[in-house]
Amino acid sequence: MSCLSSALSELYPPKPSFTENDLPDLSSKVYLITGGTSGIGLALAKILYSKNAKVYITSRTDASAEKAAAEIKASVTSGKGEIRYLVIDLSDLSTIAPGVKSFLAQEEVLHTVWFNAGVMNVSKGSVTQQGYELQWGTNVVAHFIMNKLLMPILLSTAQTAPKGSVRVVWVSSDGHIMLSPRGDGIDWQDIGTKKPIGWKGEKGSMTYYGQSKVGNVLLAMELAQRYGNHNIVGVSLNPGHLKTNLQRHSNPIGSTVVSWLMLHDPHLGALTELYAGFSESIGLHNNGAYIIPWGRLGRTRSDIEAGFRDRGTGKKLWDMMEEETKELLFFDD
Ligand SMILES: NC(=O)c1ccc[n+]([C@@H]2O[C@H](COP(=O)([O-])OP(=O)(O)OC[C@H]3O[C@@H](n4cnc5c(N)ncnc54)[C@H](OP(=O)(O)O)[C@@H]3O)[C@@H](O)[C@H]2O)c1
Repeated sequence: MSCLSSALSELYPPKPSFTENDLPDLSSKVYLITGGTSGIGLALAKILYSKNAKVYITSRTDASAEKAAAEIKASVTSGKGEIRYLVIDLSDLSTIAPGVKSFLAQEEVLHTVWFNAGVMNVSKGSVTQQGYELQWGTNVVAHFIMNKLLMPILLSTAQTAPKGSVRVVWVSSDGHIMLSPRGDGIDWQDIGTKKPIGWKGEKGSMTYYGQSKVGNVLLAMELAQRYGNHNIVGVSLNPGHLKTNLQRHSNPIGSTVVSWLMLHDPHLGALTELYAGFSESIGLHNNGAYIIPWGRLGRTRSDIEAGFRDRGTGKKLWDMMEEETKELLFFDD
């Protein structure tokens, strides 16, 4: 497939082949979605809840979590689903361990986590509480920490779970292909990590967004290498172009044109995430897969693939993050 036809097929994908109707009853299953208060994450939470799962969403505030929880409950007339929330602000890394700790106090299993929350096109120079470029810090660093803190419960769940059913889903974007620097997909000297090292701030906001989404793809592939032998699947995806609040930081004229031209209902993006979480077309046999809308196997850019395969970019990123975040990878008593 040429680059153009592949881009068009992600903008205007064929009908989904895997939907909520393909899911079994999810009673006794526990799932976690970051950013379940809006857009795709909210739509996914509704689907899982409607199938009787216990669904945790994360939110920056009690108020927005309660509003989302009420909407999720109202979307289903009957059933045994449960919706709970964790208050975590991904742009403040110090809130992650307490949020995960409260999850671990309530649950002994976690069947799949979707690292779905994200920000895009933030104003130049925006930073997280800890001084990371806002998109890198929120989309990548925060989820890396969550993943590390959740790994023990994922590993113990995977010991008795069916093969390939315990998954860590990293929500990327086709922006990782279109917007990131050529080479590894990441400019290692200007990645958005704490100033003054590793963040020159010379790129446009969308380039940093693209890099952050490459980060999500590399972490999924690296997770597959590290944890595949322990029955855990890492998967990344482009959910599709959806009408959500993601455009909130974009210029209003541009985002109106974009939304008129090509934005779909968020439910379709949730189906891409559903496929990544449940389809048997992916699993331990193709661990580290990249999924495209509305649930098909796709490929990342060839230089990003080569970087992972030949230059160890996944390991490089993982090791770098472990070193940078080591003080945040434990729970306070
Ligand atoms: N929409 C698209 O066309 C599209 C295309 C490609 C990829 N994606 C990816 O899909 C994912 C979901 O985005 P969406 O389109 O559903 O956008 P959205 O409607 O803006 O939802 C994003 C979610 O992330 C949460 N979030 C953002 N910053 C956060 C923070 N600091 N702490 C905690 N939560 C935070 C938001 O919570 P608040 O409401 O509190 O901000 C919201 O729940 C993102 O990773 C995005 O990059 C979307």
